[in-house]
Order: sequence, then structure tokens, then C-alpha cells
Amino acid sequence: MKSKTSLILAFETSCDETSVAVIRDGRKVLANEVATQIKSHQRFGGVVPEVASRHHIEQITICLEQALQTAQVDYADLSAVAVTYGPGLVGSLLVGVTAAKTVAWAHHLPLLPVNHIAGHIYAAQFVQPIKFPAMALVVSGGHTELVWMPAENQFEIIGETRDDAVGETYDKVGRTMGLAYPAGPQVDQLAQQGQDTFAFPRAMQDEAGYDFSFSGLKSSFINRVHHAEQVHEQLSQVDLAASFQAAAVDVLVDKTVRALHEYPAQQLILAGGVAANHELRQRLASAVANQVRLVMAPAQFCGDNAAMIGAAGWMLEKHQVRADLDLNANPSLEFERIQLKKH
Ligand code: KG4
Ligand code: ZN
Repeated sequence: MKSKTSLILAFETSCDETSVAVIRDGRKVLANEVATQIKSHQRFGGVVPEVASRHHIEQITICLEQALQTAQVDYADLSAVAVTYGPGLVGSLLVGVTAAKTVAWAHHLPLLPVNHIAGHIYAAQFVQPIKFPAMALVVSGGHTELVWMPAENQFEIIGETRDDAVGETYDKVGRTMGLAYPAGPQVDQLAQQGQDTFAFPRAMQDEAGYDFSFSGLKSSFINRVHHAEQVHEQLSQVDLAASFQAAAVDVLVDKTVRALHEYPAQQLILAGGVAANHELRQRLASAVANQVRLVMAPAQFCGDNAAMIGAAGWMLEKHQVRADLDLNANPSLEFERIQLKKH
């Protein structure tokens, strides 16, 4: 007879990381193999979908075997298979979904369909169990949203970006500065050495509601750099980075603090690739210190990885949410957007 221990094999292939993990009881990472493709995409300045899916196909079996070996588990020990089925690049998602369905079918295991953003949020479980109701600020390459979670497995978007995601903005701004993709971590490093001297706009900071906009900040930054090039003016790279980062972080922190006044969260979760940002972590921690407990995933679980998919899969396993073997990739999978109360 199988023990009651949950042992989930998890797959993540939504973008440019091929990852397979083994997670015990939702919180203990036994293995988390991540094969990154960043080098292949760098020369194009961003992710090329066809190149990404080809790499996933090459890497998925290698990551799977390595994860099982590192975790020292066999297929017979597993309780379920979790997989990201959206949102993301369709060709990339399909590689993970097909691998997960194959293992689930061959070994008679339940298949757990995980939303990639739920995965980012549940990475917080590696720090401590989540207390509900909770609020999450999700900041990644493709998403910027405030997610209200009244209970386990319930997600409602109360605010989101109307244009560019904050990670995408970091990458574009970094590209303008001549930095390699993905530029977020380098802009973050430079910003720590500079001063906020450029007065870039804080879009929608004073507007009601919790939506964000980063395209104005991006254009303002690019225009300033191009103008300087035309007039042969030398701009300080570190001050540029610091000014951009201050503008982006100001808006993220202000909106989140305001949302916490309206929504009675027990915890605030900072999630997604940009959650690794030093200034965002520090500023958010001090801004909400008297309001709510802030939980941030350890930096190695902020970027895309299968461990977080295993953590989210465990929540589905607990509630007996399963997918059939006809599960398909859903590139535009979204949480529900709720109507806000009048302000
Ligand atoms: O969550 P993620 O790994 O992939 C998506 O699901 O999009 O996020 C990747 C994004 C990239 O845009 C990257 O530049 C950004 O996260 N990023 C950062 C930092 N580390 C990663 N942005 C700002 N500061 C960082 N330290
Ligand atoms: Zn992600």
C-alpha cells in the first residue's frame, strides 16, 4: 500500500527554462533540475519561441532522469505528476504537458494541472505555510498583477498591468543600455550603485484602482537615452538604472500598500522573477512591516522552476483537483479578474 506522503513529480516548460522537480508534502524540495536556455536566446535579445521548444525537447528527459536520481526516488514512490499547462509559449508548454501526461499514463498517477502564476505564488510555501486570506504581488517577465486569495486555490486579480509587464520593462530598458538579455538582474546591480536623479514618471501612482502601466516609463527612459546620444551627452549608467528602478518600485509598493488597506490579508506574498529584485524586496518589507507579514520565496525559487509547480500541484492534490489525459496547453490561461468596489 502507498504511504500517505505526497511525492509530486513536477514539470515546468512555459518559457525558456526546462525544469523537473520532486517535492515532498508540498514544501520539501528533494530535487529541482533547471536547464536554462538563456545563452541561446541572448543573441536575439529575447526568447525565440521555436528555439525554446526545440531546447525543451532536448532537455526534458535529461532533467527528468536527473531529478529522480537527485531525489533518490523511483516512479513507484510518486503520488502524482504536476505540470504547467499555461500561461506561456504554446510550443514550450506542450513539451512539458506531453512529458507529464506520458509519465502519468505509464505509471497510473493522477495528473495535476498547474497555472504557472499559481506556481510562482505557491513558491512562498518553501518559506512557510501560506495563511489565508492572502494577497500576492506577482512580478515577472510576462505578468504584473495583484492577486487576492480568499482561500486555498482561489485567485482573483484586483489589478494588473495595462501594457508591459515590469520584468519585460526591465529587459527593454537594459537592452537600451547595452545589457544582455535578461537584463533585470544587471539593472538591479547597477541601480544599487546609483542615485535617483532622472525623475522618470510614476504612471498611475495616484489613480484609483490597482492597475499598473509601465510603457510610459519605458518610453521616457528610451527617449532620454536616445536624446543624450544625439547631443553626445554622457549619462551615468548607474544613475539611469537607479532612477528607472526607483520609479518602477515606487508604483509597485504604493499600489500594494493601498490594496492591503482595502483587503484584510493575513500575508503578502511577493512572487515571480522580479521578486528577486533587491530594492523591491527591501522597500516592500519596510512599507508593509506594520500591516501584514511579507513572505518572499528564496531567490532561487523566484525565477521559473518546477519546484514551485510541485508546491502548487500539492494544493491541487489536497483538494483532489485532477486533469484527464486529454489536458492541453493553454497559452493564455488567466485568473479571473474581479470587479472592484467603488472608490
Ligand atoms: O518569472 P520569470 O523567471 O519568467 C516569467 O515567467 O516571465 O521572470 C523573468 C523576469 C525577467 O524579465 C528578468 O529580467 C526579471 O524577471 N528579473 C529581474 C531580476 N531578476 C530577474 N528583474 C529585476 N531585478 C532582478 N533582480
Ligand atoms: Zn514565470
